[in-house]
Amino acid sequence: MTQAKILITGATGNVGTQLVKRLSAAHVPFKAIVRGDDSNQYLKSIPEAEIIIADLADEKAVGKALRGIEKAFLLTNSSEQAETLQLNFAVAAHAAGVQHIVKLSQFAAAEQSPVRFLRYHARVENRIRELDLTYTFLRPNLYMQGLLAFKDYIKDEGQFYAAVGNAAISAVDVRDIAAVAAHALTTQGHENKIYDITGGEAVTHYEMADIFTRVLRKPVKFVDVSPEQMEGAVRAAGFPEWQVGGLIEDYAHYARGEAAVVSKAVQEVTGHAAIRFEQFVEDHKALFL
Ligand SMILES: NC(=O)c1ccc[n+]([C@@H]2O[C@H](COP(=O)([O-])OP(=O)(O)OC[C@H]3O[C@@H](n4cnc5c(N)ncnc54)[C@H](OP(=O)(O)O)[C@@H]3O)[C@@H](O)[C@H]2O)c1
Repeated sequence: MTQAKILITGATGNVGTQLVKRLSAAHVPFKAIVRGDDSNQYLKSIPEAEIIIADLADEKAVGKALRGIEKAFLLTNSSEQAETLQLNFAVAAHAAGVQHIVKLSQFAAAEQSPVRFLRYHARVENRIRELDLTYTFLRPNLYMQGLLAFKDYIKDEGQFYAAVGNAAISAVDVRDIAAVAAHALTTQGHENKIYDITGGEAVTHYEMADIFTRVLRKPVKFVDVSPEQMEGAVRAAGFPEWQVGGLIEDYAHYARGEAAVVSKAVQEVTGHAAIRFEQFVEDHKALFL
């Protein structure tokens, strides 16, 4: 097989799994840095994937993996270590002669944001620019797949919760994010571009509940809770403290109506319309019933 010129991180996650499917379907060879050996059974079945078992904290392994790579896709989950891991990755990519980084960021990333996730993403973006690497920053809004966290509540209680009020959010399906990422990695014209990646419409959580009700053919209710109630629930679910704070800041940002903008990036980059929330529910129906 041809030597891979693309390296991806985050291949086992929400966006990464979909990105891997797209690269494989297009027969594009790629390297994937993954941490464990257990979670990547799917990757192992893909002939286009060269799997490198390494933690992104292992600078030596990352530097070695990046040799001969032209384009790298950078994604980690948002943890307290994310900023350092991503800054180090950018420096290593630059040192290895990588030409272009496609970085998964977040809608409204800004160094002055009150939301810690948006601040760290902006700092990583700015470092990539300072290094003079060609970049494509993918800034998705709230993932529709985030609603899968409520599947058991929707199934068992017919309701779901968030501290978000009546704010509209242009949530996006991760399949669309991966489609944009695949284009940025495999086609020209995305150099030094920032894509706000949103769904084609902004919907409130009350409207999401109506859509669940219609598609699942059972009553589903959205319950608006206080930030304190949400914080308690997220902490009880076992999230580390830094992430608990980040999620509450994120939802305050949504509740202020700051995530309602609808962008045309999915349509413009991929040539197809963004997946609607109704379609997302339809496609994951079995999980909510
Ligand atoms: N959720 C949302 O609504 C939303 C909205 C906008 C932007 N975002 C951004 O999206 C990103 C998360 O995307 P996602 O949901 O696709 O991610 P995810 O499902 O949480 O997966 C994270 C991936 O990063 C890998 N990873 C983490 N730390 C690593 C390390 N030290 N070494 C090697 N690999 C490591 C994980 O590997 P393992 O399998 O080994 O854990 C996994 O493949 C975050 O940056 C977040 O800010 C999220």
